[in-house]
Formats: sequence, structure tokens, C-alpha cells
Amino acid sequence: MHSSTILIVLAAGMMIGCPHVSATEPANKTEEFVATEEWQVVAEGQSIPKGLHVRINLQTGVKEAKLLDESERGTALQSKSSDEEKPLSLEHKVDIVEESVRKVKEHRSYAELRKAYKDFQKNFRTDGELILQLVEQYRNLSKTSVQSELKIKLNVLENLEYLLHQIDNALVFIDHGSLDDILLPIVVNETNADLRISAMRVLGALTGNNPKVQIKVFERNFGSHFAQILMTSSNSAEISSALHAFGALLRKFPLAQQRILSTSGTQALIGVLRSSDVELRNKAKVVTLISDLMVEKQSVLDASADAPDTATTVAQYVLLDFETWLQSHGYCTALEAVLSQDYVHLLDQPEAVEQFTIALESTESVCLWSKSASLRHALLTIRNRFSHSQDEYRLEVSQALAKVCESFYEKQIHVEL
Ligand SMILES: *[C@@H]1O[C@H](CO)[C@@H](O)[C@H](O)[C@H]1NC(C)=O
Ligand SMILES: *[C@@H]1O[C@H](CO)[C@@H](O)[C@H](O)[C@H]1NC(C)=O
Ligand SMILES: *[C@@H]1O[C@H](CO)[C@@H](O)[C@H](O)[C@H]1NC(C)=O
Repeated sequence: MHSSTILIVLAAGMMIGCPHVSATEPANKTEEFVATEEWQVVAEGQSIPKGLHVRINLQTGVKEAKLLDESERGTALQSKSSDEEKPLSLEHKVDIVEESVRKVKEHRSYAELRKAYKDFQKNFRTDGELILQLVEQYRNLSKTSVQSELKIKLNVLENLEYLLHQIDNALVFIDHGSLDDILLPIVVNETNADLRISAMRVLGALTGNNPKVQIKVFERNFGSHFAQILMTSSNSAEISSALHAFGALLRKFPLAQQRILSTSGTQALIGVLRSSDVELRNKAKVVTLISDLMVEKQSVLDASADAPDTATTVAQYVLLDFETWLQSHGYCTALEAVLSQDYVHLLDQPEAVEQFTIALESTESVCLWSKSASLRHALLTIRNRFSHSQDEYRLEVSQALAKVCESFYEKQIHVEL
């Protein structure tokens, strides 16, 4: 009975927000989770890439993830294609059942197995029920910051973040007014940065690829709250979670892009680029968001030539005057300054260099990159350094950078070589 009991009591354990007790050493949470074919513990606060098998031990709160088996890749719930998503919970519930059945089979009689399974079913909760329990638990806590309740609140938010990636789960949460009751007060008034960060991670999970939720989040004016946080915070985790939530709100939502980026939004993003306190990783996220939105607009306009019936959507994108917004807030000089002044640090961050390279290319229509001697020096230096690296990734980035340099500087590049 031992192993199955764990699973049964678990749902309750999760609700009361009991602390994580893991048998195995959790991975370092500041690092990205690297999945293998074995179950591995996901550290508290660590983000999990899409397309993995995930399960939670509801008693201990320990979350584990692994790669999908070959045969499962097409149907996995968090598969890359959002159209084909199936409920995440189903996957991990199946895992839990299978795991418990397997364990029970190893040591127990058939009668015990049957009883364990019955008990499991009796205590079985749907994701919707779990979400409502979490919401109720949160509402039961005090509205103000009480130190003793902090851990419970963070735990509830973490569980919500995990559940709300799923589109249907996100709608259950929204339909119960939780955006107004739980998330808005945290983002607007909460003084504890960890709670704000967790709430914005929930918002990112909730809003990503979910048009119905994007509209609700937009209507509650979260966009300008994110912009406000980007303009005032110097906490790197907070800036990162605000950028994630901001991007989830804006992507594929031209109305929100128009309203938010024509006002404080662009200023907030460029403020992050300008700030001397912000690390390069977050600056790279900013330029990636700007670049993605410009590419998104262009691809809608390009596609419209073949599909005349998308006139309304196209009209919304035509209103997006990124060029003017970016120029009037000094995007070009801000990005040029980041690259010219910080290129020595970029030599150790090929991921950021790749992001900046893509952004330089996709915002070429906005800025006269080729006119800046200091930018040219920085780009050619990074390109040269990476092209002599033993590291394949750096070599790849140096090729992308070489292509961009060539398009900016044409023949001059041969002189440099
Ligand atoms: C986690 O990783 C960071 C950066 O790599 C390091 O500074 C920190 O000491 C690590 N923490 C633990 C608990 O290993
Ligand atoms: C919330 O509080 C009510 C009333 O005190 C209680 O009955 C209920 O069980 C609590 N719910 C949770 C999830 O803690
Ligand atoms: C934030 O706090 C102010 C002042 O206490 C209050 O009037 C306002 O309703 C709060 N906003 C939210 C979204 O909770």
C-alpha cells in the first residue's frame, strides 16, 4: 500500500503548500533544466522546456521531468505545435497511475493493487478542481504581505504556473475572476519582489499562445503595469519575468501592440536597453522581442498578398508604426551603445550575440547601422574572435554575424580580413 498511498494523499499535500522535500538533489535552479530519458527533479523556480513528460508528486511537491519516448513525441501535450496540445495533466496522471501500478505490482498482491487503484480513483482530481482549490487557498490568505504566509503564497503561484500553461486550465482560472483577485493586486501593489516575479511567471504561462486570455490580460491594463515594472525595477529576475509576460501579451495581438507600444511600452523596453544595471541577457531578450514583433508584422503583410480575405487583421498590422516608435525613443543609439560598450562581455555570451545579430538584421530598416564606426569595430571583433573558436556554436554565430556584417559593410569587410 505504501507507494500508492503517496499518490493519493498527494493532492491534499499540494493544497496546503507543504515544503518541498526531495530525495534526490534538485538541479541548480538558476540553470535551465536539461532533460534526459530518466526522471529528474526539477528545482523550485526552474523553468522546463516544452515537450517533456512532467509529473508532480503531490505530497512532497517534487516535480520531475524527462524526455518523451520516441513513440510519444507526436502526441505529447506540451508539444511544440500549440494547435495539437492535449491536456498536460492527462500525461502526468497517466504517469502517476502507471508508476504506482508498477510499484504496487512489484511487491503487492492483486487485491492490494485493485484497492490501491480504487483509492486512487476516489481521490482523483481534475485540473479544474485543483486550480479552484489553489485559488481558494490563496484567497483565504491575508491580502497584505505577511511573512509567515509568503512561502505558501509562492508555492500556490508555482503550482498555478505549472497548471496554467494548458489553455483550458487557463480559462478555468480566468472564469473564476482570479486575474482580478489574485494576480492584479500582486502586480500592482505587492511590495515583495518574489511574489511579483511569481505572479508575472503565472501571467506568462497563462497568456502565452492563448488569445482569449491575452484579451482579458490586455483589458485589465497589465501591459502598462509590466511597462512600469520594466522602467523601475533593477532586479534581474523581475525584469526577466516582466519581459516574458509582456511578450506573451503582445505576440500575435496587434491591437495590444498598437496600444501599448505606441505609448509607454516602447519607452520601457528601450529603457531596459539603456540601463547600466541590467545584464546583457535581459537586454538580449528586449531586442529579441522587438525583432520578433517586426518580423511578425512583416510576415502578416507578406502573406496578405495571397489571402485578400484577411483585410481586418492586415489593417491592424498596418497601424503598427514600429519604425517611428523605435526611432523616437532612441532604439538605434541605445542598441549601438550596448554592443559598442559591452562587446568584451559579449565574447563570453554567444547566445546573446546570436540574439543581437538577429535583431540587427531585422531592424536594419529602422537604423543606419553601417554608419557607426564603433558598432562596426565591435561586430568585426566578435566575429573574428568567434571564427577562431573551437566551439561549434560560436562558429555558427560567427557565420551569422559575418553575413550581417557583409550586408552592412559590403566590400569594406575584405579590407578587415
Ligand atoms: C547555481 O549556479 C550559479 C551560477 O552557475 C552559482 O553561482 C551558484 O552558486 C549555484 N548554486 C548552487 C546551490 O549550486
Ligand atoms: C478556506 O477557508 C474556509 C473557511 O475558513 C475553509 O472552509 C476552507 O477549507 C479553506 N480552503 C482552503 C483551500 O484552505
Ligand atoms: C492597490 O492599492 C490601492 C491603495 O490601497 C487600492 O486603492 C487599489 O485598489 C489597489 N489595486 C489593486 C489592483 O489591488
